[in-house]
Amino acid sequence: MYNTEITQASNFVKGVDTAFLVIMGISFVFLLGLTAVMLYFIYRYNRKRHPKPIQIEGSTRLEIVWTVIPLVLVMVMFYYGWAGWKPMGKPPKDAMEVTVIGRMWNFIFEYENGRKTDTLYLPKDQAVKLNLVALDVIHSVYIPAFRVKQDMVPGKDNTFMWFIPQREGTFELYCTEYCGLNHSYMFNYVKVMESEAFNTWYSDTTAVAASAEIESATAAGRRIMQSIGCFACHSLDGSKLVGPTFKGLYGSERTVTSGGSKKVVTADDEYIRKAIFEPDAELVEGFGRGLMLSYRGQLSEDDILLIIEYLKTVQ
Ligand code: CUA
Repeated sequence: MYNTEITQASNFVKGVDTAFLVIMGISFVFLLGLTAVMLYFIYRYNRKRHPKPIQIEGSTRLEIVWTVIPLVLVMVMFYYGWAGWKPMGKPPKDAMEVTVIGRMWNFIFEYENGRKTDTLYLPKDQAVKLNLVALDVIHSVYIPAFRVKQDMVPGKDNTFMWFIPQREGTFELYCTEYCGLNHSYMFNYVKVMESEAFNTWYSDTTAVAASAEIESATAAGRRIMQSIGCFACHSLDGSKLVGPTFKGLYGSERTVTSGGSKKVVTADDEYIRKAIFEPDAELVEGFGRGLMLSYRGQLSEDDILLIIEYLKTVQ
């Protein structure tokens, strides 16, 4: 299922690979050429064969040669780089749009019909424009198989990348801008499907609703937490990560700092709700301020109830 053959997976592969090969080729020729000349000079001009050094003063011809040749080579590299990069800035008008939200430390993909996923599902042979939104710090979306990579800067609008997936399969997508302790957790998959299969998946909101109904509350809670990246910072086994562990959390007594003073509170429903919507309001002793952004707007009150149901089971 996992696709390791990554050539021509998107419309940009050819342009990027050509630029890469041209630069690599030129570098390789120089590596060989310079090494050969160097070895020859060592042989030809060592003290035994060439005991008296000669001073050369100025050569216009040489100056011109070693200015013009590198200039031409650099312009060749520039041309291929430019030709491969230029079309990346011009998404077609009919491109399907997906919003990519990056935060410490996960990506969420939001579709025009409101669907949110942690795997990027895409139809084959259809132009896709990813609108990139960073909520906290600089992240960067990288899909090596598609040869696309773009930084996302918080507060900067209209950041996007576009491409046409041209091969069915599963590809890697990850953050390629070091964004803190769990940077490496920002790793997701892109799943490219035939357009028919994609359309079925895309419009199939009934199946999601139906499966949510038979899904238990605790399973739903866990799924929500997984999709928004909770476990990147909160362990389930009692170990201390960026945030406190979830193990034994529900119903326990916690020492928190609230409004500058310390107090002991019980981790009940209201405590959990507040911890998700106002993470810094009641800060658990021993953990840093400002590390978690509020999930207000991203989680509904119903989601919170499901999360609480799940947390009750983590003992
Ligand atoms: Cu986000 Cu690294």
